[in-house]
Amino acid sequence: MTKTAITAAQILPVLAERWSPRSFDTNYELPSHELLSILEAARWAPSANNAQPWRFSVLKRGDALHTAVSAEGLSGFNQAWAPNASALVVVSIKTLTADGKDNHFAPYDAGLAVANLVIQAHELGLHAHQIGGFVPDALRSILELDEDLRPIVVVAIGKVASADQLEGPAYEREIQPRTRFELDEIVLHGKP
Ligand SMILES: Cc1cc2nc3c(=O)[nH]c(=O)nc-3n(C[C@H](O)[C@H](O)[C@H](O)COP(=O)(O)O)c2cc1C
Repeated sequence: MTKTAITAAQILPVLAERWSPRSFDTNYELPSHELLSILEAARWAPSANNAQPWRFSVLKRGDALHTAVSAEGLSGFNQAWAPNASALVVVSIKTLTADGKDNHFAPYDAGLAVANLVIQAHELGLHAHQIGGFVPDALRSILELDEDLRPIVVVAIGKVASADQLEGPAYEREIQPRTRFELDEIVLHGKP
């Protein structure tokens, strides 16, 4: 299935083709070279003051930490589909700078790193689905995160599978076309 965006101008194919599935191939095991490439893409994201406040916990399907996070770390609907992906990557931010001040840019920087990660995954023929519906305290406790680390998103990564594996609203969402606001609605000043 393709969910390529219908764009108002030419953009990089990987940006148009990327989408967030909920049906993942439960037999696909993420090889180390793919994982390395995905994390390396994240590592080279820019960040304010080059603080690099992102930290990654890679939990492969079948591992004890993956099982624990699948059972207790994801909220509601996400529990039903996300554990089928080859890996769950918990992204945490370091909330303090080296001199102990609040790093206001940390969430922004982590978003940039995750964008790199997601795009690299798609370039490798994988799919990535970001998840904001998680249980922060459960992730903190299962992963034994340091005090100054805050989990900010979970990314499910794997090979997409047939939408027929899903049921109900999840199936409906899987086959719906992707939509966005028109440029007119989001460009406040200087629309080309
Ligand atoms: C920060 C963030 C949190 C999200 N949380 C969830 C989530 O908890 N569950 C879910 O099914 N999808 C989640 N999504 C996926 C979005 O719903 C999806 O990216 C959006 O609908 C656009 O679809 P597309 O990525 O296929 O273009 C999240 C995406 C982002 C960026």
